[in-house]
Amino acid sequence: MRTQVAIIGAGPAGLMLGRLLQLAGIEAVILERKSADYVLSRIRAGVLEQGTADLLARVGLGDRVAAEGLPHGGIDMCFDGDLQRIDFTARVGRHVTVYGQTEVTRDLMEAREASGALTIYEAGDVAVHDFDGRQPRITWRKDGIEHALSCDFIAGCDGFHGVCRASVPERAIRTFERHYPFGWLGILVERPPVSEELIYAHHERGFALCSMRSLTRSRYYVQVPEGERVEDWSDQRFWDELRGRINPEAAQRLQIGPSIEKSIAPLRSFVAEPLRFGRLFLAGDAAHIVPPTGAKGLNLAISDVAMLGAAFVEHYAERSDAGLDAYSARALARIWKAERFSWWMTSLLHTFPETGPFGRRIQRAEFDYLCGSVAAQTSLAENYTGLSLD
Ligand code: APR
Ligand code: PHB
Repeated sequence: MRTQVAIIGAGPAGLMLGRLLQLAGIEAVILERKSADYVLSRIRAGVLEQGTADLLARVGLGDRVAAEGLPHGGIDMCFDGDLQRIDFTARVGRHVTVYGQTEVTRDLMEAREASGALTIYEAGDVAVHDFDGRQPRITWRKDGIEHALSCDFIAGCDGFHGVCRASVPERAIRTFERHYPFGWLGILVERPPVSEELIYAHHERGFALCSMRSLTRSRYYVQVPEGERVEDWSDQRFWDELRGRINPEAAQRLQIGPSIEKSIAPLRSFVAEPLRFGRLFLAGDAAHIVPPTGAKGLNLAISDVAMLGAAFVEHYAERSDAGLDAYSARALARIWKAERFSWWMTSLLHTFPETGPFGRRIQRAEFDYLCGSVAAQTSLAENYTGLSLD
């Protein structure tokens, strides 16, 4: 079997790249380790930068996000109960859209299925070969049979634990990592959100976030120490903790109910450099991880493949490799800015026991500065709603 671009991973990065290539008449096959149902069952974040929503529309998938997505013109920042709204529309003339990553994935999957483009789900033991030469190959196993695919390029969109980054010789890659000694305990509940917009809260007991999936379904998080077990968190314990960390008016309004999902996610910052190894390119979580505090994970995956897709189009349509040659540096420049913003939001809003009372005073000063400075609010708004591709 042969194709032009072999895409490993059917998350948002792989599926969006597949869509961009298909619209440009470039042939691609997607290989995914899990089943389609499994991919759609993963609960992930749900805030789209304006550029992400615009790209969905540009690839012909704007209808459902326009109908069901919730445009948000700002967020609330809360520190020890004091509230400050950051007005995105007033500061930068842009907004974000609340629309679950699962929905983005579903829209892309359905469009791909309808187009007849090939996606191979439940591909086991995927291995990438010869990406240093002119004729890369992929092998995998399905239903006990060994398969092979040769291609011009491989796009490694296979997430943090994927096979592509792991196949690069150690001497060719450099990684940068920051581990945070806490996680987010998240709960999904069939109740209206406590507030029209998201509330990001710092409290001496730890961070809390009030988010939503729709006008009837809410997503809440609290910071928990590393090693905490989800079994030790009854719904009641979660609600008590959340109420204690957010502003009192919101705490009073909070509508609680039985959780329909509850899990703990670790926090990490991670970047791999470079993103190109011969004919293998990395994009999305395969290349980088951000802590969820700035809602950048999905958006970065999409902006990576917007750049990579354009570079492939340039290669095939214009016979120019300028875009492919520039991809790694161009994507990394934007990735590092999103890493900085996510790290900054994380640093401001969480408790770091090791930094002591001095650290908390610095966080308070940062919050007070944000409250009093239009420049600081503009910076937050500019980053949260999404930086341009260059
Ligand atoms: N072979 C084939 N597929 C694989 C392999 C493998 N060896 N390893 C991983 N995969 C698949 C995973 O099953 C997953 O479906 O690659 C896909 C990667 O998808 P995501 O993890 O969703 O990563 P990405 O598309 O880059 O999207 C990033 O996802 O984790 C969130 O916060 C993150 O929102 C961000 C987004
Ligand atoms: C979410 O709704 O899951 C969510 C929203 C904003 C974030 C992180 C997660 O920063």
